[in-house]
Amino acid sequence: MKTPIYFAVAFFSCLFVHATTTGTLFEARAPPGAVEVLSIFNPTVVDHFYTTNASEIQQLTDFYGYESEGTSTGFIFLTEQPDTVPLFRLYSLGAADHMYTTSTQVRDHAVKRLGYFVEGILGFVYTEDGPGRLPFFGLHNPNRIDHYYTTSADQRDDAAKNGWNVEGGVGYLLSP
Ligand SMILES: *[C@@H]1O[C@H](CO)[C@@H](O)[C@H](O)[C@H]1NC(C)=O
Repeated sequence: MKTPIYFAVAFFSCLFVHATTTGTLFEARAPPGAVEVLSIFNPTVVDHFYTTNASEIQQLTDFYGYESEGTSTGFIFLTEQPDTVPLFRLYSLGAADHMYTTSTQVRDHAVKRLGYFVEGILGFVYTEDGPGRLPFFGLHNPNRIDHYYTTSADQRDDAAKNGWNVEGGVGYLLSP
């Protein structure tokens, strides 16, 4: 009876090493139905950008001067779940600024008065805190005309010391 057990241990060890080296273990730990929020920054036009679409990240880094900045994010639902709301994604061509909000009032105001248009939704987020949820902190820099979002309280505090105003209304992402 020992041999099959040793074989099983060796087999699953190999799977573990394979999963760790290929990164699939991390993906496997994503909450069901949720995908990672990817983040990049363009220092020239000063724009933080968030998407779940890896091709979009590739395009913007290859051709539009965006780069990784190490912003902390989390996971987001691609379809509506109980107690979640859409996180709208807006863009202003004139300001070269992406902004995100769960508030239809903020969205409509930005469209009618501030020159933004709705590009779609990033995904669906909880509006209340709970187990496995990460607050997605929103910051706005009126001088640089940029919106910045992070799940890290340290990154939020650093930004707040450097001219960014903390704003709410982006809900809760999920931790891996
Ligand atoms: C992802 O982005 C690419 C490049 O912009 C686009 O062609 C594609 O339609 C997007 N996929 C989804 C699911 O939105």
